[in-house]
Amino acid sequence: MTTDAAALFIVFEGGDGSGKSTQARLLRDWLAGQGREVVLTREPGGTELGRRLRREVLHGDDLDPRTEALLYAADRAHHVHTLVRPALARGAVVVSDRYIDSSVAYQGAGRALGGDEIRELSLWATGGLLPGLTVVLDVDAATAAGRRSRRPDRLEREPHGFHEEVRSAFLALAAADPERYVVVDSSRSREDVHAAVVAAVAPLVGVVA
Ligand code: TMP
Repeated sequence: MTTDAAALFIVFEGGDGSGKSTQARLLRDWLAGQGREVVLTREPGGTELGRRLRREVLHGDDLDPRTEALLYAADRAHHVHTLVRPALARGAVVVSDRYIDSSVAYQGAGRALGGDEIRELSLWATGGLLPGLTVVLDVDAATAAGRRSRRPDRLEREPHGFHEEVRSAFLALAAADPERYVVVDSSRSREDVHAAVVAAVAPLVGVVA
């Protein structure tokens, strides 16, 4: 039963191959089944400009780490301004595949630019918009690498140690703010992971299981 139709911003985070896109779609379908307007989106690439930035940052020429960080922040600024905030203002649930924490983990930790500065950059870019809930899909880097099938992008080509740094950064972010994060072991079946995600989201949308 749905008792509350307040807007909600939910973000999936995790390493490449952690199952975020699948779980974001499953959650979208579950929320829609509860009668909610759901906007499923992603970073980078949730807007037309974002799709151009995504191509450059993932498949274009080599970039220095600061340029890379600024391109992700530019994508995020435009995404939040043109898509996320308007949807929240209508009372929708926005489900995003990645957000600020991906920059903190990949650019701040992986590229060693410093998590605090990278977070500040994204907070400036978004006017301080933070998710109500972040779901971290956690899987070890070797298992995640084995799940990736398409041609690897620039980040996916980084060595094992980079991906372990990224994983540790996500877990540290979650541990620092347990009220706004849930960590789900995504080495389990997609059905089990989905059930754990629903258990975390249901109370936030007023659904009594
Ligand atoms: P995706 O394959 O999950 O769509 O993500 C694209 C890649 O971009 C992935 O390797 C993670 C990386 N990324 C960052 O490095 N920083 C960011 O801020 C975001 C959103 C993604």
